[in-house]
Amino acid sequence: MKTYDFIVVGSGIAGLTFALQAAQKGSVAIVTKKDRGDSNTAKAQGGVACVESNEDSFDQHVQDTLIAGAGLCHEDVVRTIVSEGPQAIEQLIKTGVNFDRDPDSGEFSLGMEGGHSQRRILHSKDTTGLEIETRLLAAVAANDNIEVLEHHFAIDLITTRRLGFASPPRCLGMYVLDEIENKVITLRSDRVILCTGGCGRVYLYTTNPKVATGDGVAMAWRAGAKISNMEFIQFHPTCLYHPDAKSFLISEAVRGEGGVLIGQDGKEFMHRYDKRKSLAPRDIVARAIDREIKVTGAPCVFLDITHQPPGFVKQRFPHIYDTCLKLGIDAEKDPIPVVPAAHYQCGGVQVDVNGKSSLSGLWAVGEVACTGLHGANRLASNSLLEGAVVAQRAVQDVFQKLPVDGEPESFDLPEWTVGNVTDVDELVVIYHNWDEIRRLMWDYVSIVRTGKRLQRAATRLQNLSREVQEFYWNFKVTSELLELRNLVQVATLIVDNAAQRTESRGLHYTLDYPERDDKNWIRDTVSSRV
Ligand code: SIN
Repeated sequence: MKTYDFIVVGSGIAGLTFALQAAQKGSVAIVTKKDRGDSNTAKAQGGVACVESNEDSFDQHVQDTLIAGAGLCHEDVVRTIVSEGPQAIEQLIKTGVNFDRDPDSGEFSLGMEGGHSQRRILHSKDTTGLEIETRLLAAVAANDNIEVLEHHFAIDLITTRRLGFASPPRCLGMYVLDEIENKVITLRSDRVILCTGGCGRVYLYTTNPKVATGDGVAMAWRAGAKISNMEFIQFHPTCLYHPDAKSFLISEAVRGEGGVLIGQDGKEFMHRYDKRKSLAPRDIVARAIDREIKVTGAPCVFLDITHQPPGFVKQRFPHIYDTCLKLGIDAEKDPIPVVPAAHYQCGGVQVDVNGKSSLSGLWAVGEVACTGLHGANRLASNSLLEGAVVAQRAVQDVFQKLPVDGEPESFDLPEWTVGNVTDVDELVVIYHNWDEIRRLMWDYVSIVRTGKRLQRAATRLQNLSREVQEFYWNFKVTSELLELRNLVQVATLIVDNAAQRTESRGLHYTLDYPERDDKNWIRDTVSSRV
């Protein structure tokens, strides 16, 4: 058993920010299931929403967030995160992050995205996340108090309840599959921080990288923490539609710079759905595209930014430009084929503005968590902001609540027991179930829902869940099996929460209840195992 002052699971903006600051007070382990740079953060293109211009104000950013969130944001949380944004940006810059600046004035060059009333997106060309990830990882590498455990898959949290202790429920550590040594190890800490990102991979089409399998939410749920608002899955309106480019995002910033959505006939259509046209909030744009595709039978729509002067797209969006060009699309001359795809989990482990969950000793920060910032629909580029601000607050909270001096209370955590299990003999069964979950979630639980489709999904998921449990007990654990177990759990939570909400609001749209019901539903859905 290895003991640390802090265990962070995940290596995106939230996990790395937390680790760097917590390391001032004690030893930190970062448990990450693939290479350290494999995170949603590294893929983020658009940027970080933050009030940095004199023409902007915290009030305007708060209002834009509340409007996008469709009545479900927690206003106090929104205000705190928005107003602490500049300080978090300052901290990122101190760590070495470069945001683009106007070459003449030296001021930040601020981008525009859907639902924002002002230009307020700090960016680093169109690879903002990669810039942040690279700089934070460099700082982590230089810190002797931080140990990064790559290819270590967190299996389950260890709690007093799991061990049958009479003491109040609390988190004591976790079991982790060390994929390098191929064995399960036990990690002990009184402060576990989940920063595992979202669950886009639960859907057939997603902008998310392979690592986004909802591991944190599934683990927290099994440990007895409360989970909120999982019905609100954000579909990004513009994922590149091309057989050789699965999951490639065409940033909303392209629409912010004047890109316009057009149909197969070359005509604009967004004015028929919202007066903000192509820059309406994402729930509206994604639903409009879904409808256009269904009505016209076309496989995709197009994003047209060809009216910009030659060289503009190449200079402002080099990553998007190069990727499209390799696939035969010259974004300076050709409209880009796009479809909506699962992008962001607005719900998650229920936490306060400091990342504290309902289970003592457990914090959750970033996409894995539900602070109340996003409500029923996240405003573009508010997520990196949330990760950076709440990670800093979580560090302060952890320091206050639990003294870090001295030895942790000695608990004899039992080792992982391996029963009479064998190696998975046929990987095909695991891959089949993976595909089935992702397909059924796409067909029954995506942009437009009905009670009947949700019921079908729930029935299939029950069967899949039973089968996956059997694999789990009978076979040696592998990362594929663990991801499958988490996917089926998270899919079930999404369906359960969606079935509870008998109205349409933000990202949850059901044909059975097409109207918003403010009388009954200005509240979060909550699931708890205990
Ligand atoms: C994008 O660049 O469109 C993604 C930004 C975000 O999801 O906040």
